[in-house]
Amino acid sequence: MIKTRISQMLGIEYPIIQAPMNWISGADLVSAVSAAGGLGTLGPNAGQKTPANDEKEVGERLRSQIKKVRSITDKPFAVNIAIGMGDAKKFSDAFVRVVIEEKVPVAVVSMGAPQVYTKELKDKGVIVFQTVTTVKHGKRAEAEGVDAVIAEGYEGGGHLGNDDHTTMCLVPELADAVKIPVIAGGGIVDSRGFMAALALGAEAAFIGTRFLATRESDAHQNVKDVVIKATGADTIVLGKNLGVSMVRAVKNEFSQKFHEMELGHAPLGDLYNLQENHAMTKPGYLVSRMYPTFCLGDTLQGVVSVNDAVGLIKDVVSARQVIEEIVKGSSIILCRFEDTGIQRK
Ligand SMILES: Cc1cc2nc3c(=O)[nH]c(=O)nc-3n(C[C@H](O)[C@H](O)[C@H](O)COP(=O)(O)O)c2cc1C
Repeated sequence: MIKTRISQMLGIEYPIIQAPMNWISGADLVSAVSAAGGLGTLGPNAGQKTPANDEKEVGERLRSQIKKVRSITDKPFAVNIAIGMGDAKKFSDAFVRVVIEEKVPVAVVSMGAPQVYTKELKDKGVIVFQTVTTVKHGKRAEAEGVDAVIAEGYEGGGHLGNDDHTTMCLVPELADAVKIPVIAGGGIVDSRGFMAALALGAEAAFIGTRFLATRESDAHQNVKDVVIKATGADTIVLGKNLGVSMVRAVKNEFSQKFHEMELGHAPLGDLYNLQENHAMTKPGYLVSRMYPTFCLGDTLQGVVSVNDAVGLIKDVVSARQVIEEIVKGSSIILCRFEDTGIQRK
């Protein structure tokens, strides 16, 4: 398999990074990905079945997931630090503290500016990857000293930028603009997407939705059932008017109503009211609907967040199978290139 600066920096076999997914990427998925030669990433609420509102408890829950990963594999893994806004920053602060105390090798930082945590993490020897959705933000992250930038394209399942840059266009532009490695995320589910990402100048792929539909993911079975039936045409992007990052979700009662209200320029207060009033959850931001979706299995009034390439996902397999398919398929693509006269040096 192709070696890149990312696989060498991390000491992993394949430059394949499982992207963090709230409530979904717990220790079982993360350890399976890392044991299979990629890099697993623990997400917010990793391995949990109930919400927690106390930052100490949130930190201790993360610590127990880190310990669980280490009880299954000695391979490297990452933790997602989704920077909290306002009072919610106490949760990301707790994550940073535990990551440092537990000497987690890699942090995937998202949802905020690189100046918030990069220095603190780097001073303690943590490798920092920062998610960005524009070239401007990528350059800023590089100037702050991050080790690599993750280009999140508009095809992705979550944390989309307001500028709607696609993976196809953002990755090469970013690769030209920064010296640090670029990791491509957004719409990559198989060997074709993986090889395309490398061809665009990325040094690893950042893959979320494909790992959602694995046996080890903590997503509710109802969600996995929806994912293997959905196609890209069934998805819709929500939240452009909210000022927080947007998500792409499968069309259902909630997402269609929300989308219609956005198109009709509904007042922000009405949009917040709609998203906050879920019968099974407490008030919160759009992502709070992810709890009733991914844990309780409400696929009608929840946010079933998936990427635009979801139509290529037809089955629930093991995380190892996802990685093996990408590796095997990549070799076949390379051979095809050679057959057509495009030689490897
Ligand atoms: C269900 C779901 C939950 C997500 N939760 C998070 C999260 O908690 N933190 C984060 O940084 N990104 C989150 N994301 C974004 C993914 O990490 C990833 O960047 C994006 O989905 C692109 O990968 P994909 O196209 O393969 O899904 C989520 C994505 C999905 C689909």
